[in-house]
Amino acid sequence: MPRLSCWFIRASLAYLVAGFTLGALMLTLKAVVRYDGVGLLMTPHVEFLLIGWTVQVTMGVAFWILPRFEGGTSRGAVGYAWLAFVLLNAGVILAGLGPVLGDAGFIRLAGQVAEAGAAVAFALHAWRRIRRASF
Ligand code: HEM
Repeated sequence: MPRLSCWFIRASLAYLVAGFTLGALMLTLKAVVRYDGVGLLMTPHVEFLLIGWTVQVTMGVAFWILPRFEGGTSRGAVGYAWLAFVLLNAGVILAGLGPVLGDAGFIRLAGQVAEAGAAVAFALHAWRRIRRASF
């Protein structure tokens, strides 16, 4: 497995654990006390699981498995994929923790812009690798 896939997949597993923990915490708080702070935990729960886990694990596996060039030795424009990794994780942290840090609006928006940038960067990397197999 390439090094970048290890980074993507390990980071996604960390978000899986964190996101499930927040979900379990919300469930417990809702069951045990009259808890109004669900909103504060909900944003990181959703960001961690939808983007940090599902999108990130997909990118990690896709980077590994999509068709390669030059007889299987090259994955093409790898810089875009690294950029996607950095932007995605910065985005999840900013968008997820924005409300916790007290500035829901600006920090969250910056995170979402970074997440969108990660999607564009990954698409730029992957586009040329999407092609029919030649047997
Ligand atoms: C990949 C897995 C998961 C994803 C993508 C996910 C996603 C979401 C989303 C999008 C919401 C917001 C729903 C809304 O806006 O009404 C939510 C809420 C919630 N999730 Fe998850 N979730 C996942 C796993 C879990 C797990 C494992 C738990 C518990 C252990 C959990 C507990 C909760 C709770 C308690 C809420 C708040 C429900 C409410 O009060 O309206 N989630 N989740």
